[in-house]
Amino acid sequence: MSHLVAPSLLSADFGNLKKDIEMVNQSRADWFHLDVMDGVFVPNISFGFPIIKTVKKYATKPLDVHLMIVQPERYFKAFQEAGADILSIHYEAVTHLHRSVHAMKDLGMKAGVVLNPHTPVSLLEDIIQDVDLVLLMSVNPGYGGQQFIENTYRKISRLKEMILQKQASCLIEIDGGVTLDNAPKLVAAGADVLVAGNTVFASDNPQATIEKLKA
Ligand code: DX5
Ligand code: ZN
Repeated sequence: MSHLVAPSLLSADFGNLKKDIEMVNQSRADWFHLDVMDGVFVPNISFGFPIIKTVKKYATKPLDVHLMIVQPERYFKAFQEAGADILSIHYEAVTHLHRSVHAMKDLGMKAGVVLNPHTPVSLLEDIIQDVDLVLLMSVNPGYGGQQFIENTYRKISRLKEMILQKQASCLIEIDGGVTLDNAPKLVAAGADVLVAGNTVFASDNPQATIEKLKA
């Protein structure tokens, strides 16, 4: 399988959201990446249900929703109803991860677990076979346009090793500071999905940039 690209709408133009959604629809992008922040788990607040529902209304591709919120399990049903196809929660934000992963799956969504840059991959040993996706943060979550943390390559290798050893089948997604320069290296290291916000939406030709990220 060739790698997937998920533009992060955090860097989209919210005054012309429909235009950016249509751009992603027409591009070679695979998923829409939507960042939900609560101002508690991360220092920033982004958007919630009205925006997700609006994206769902016009999007022709799956919605990959990344929750940066405390007690995410309180809202699983609401995110499913808003249109999330893939829902990811932070390892650092839940106590009963196994229960939460299965609760997301029981609602018919793909279940993802996200690790902050300092959280070791080894903590996933006993949950890796239950998840559809592991998202490795390659910046500290909260903002778009930050600098990529180089240690991410080592985490990808360790995660890849664990997936093979446990005969798990989850995808590896990388989020934060993805550029045209590091994208090929990330894919070579084992990344299956690349999220890109600033790189796509701050470029002169976002659709062509997505094309380059896919190449
Ligand atoms: C950061 C978010 C990212 C963000 C990535 O907390 O999870 O999805 O939008 O933005 P870039 O690609 O600009 O680093
Ligand atoms: Zn994200």
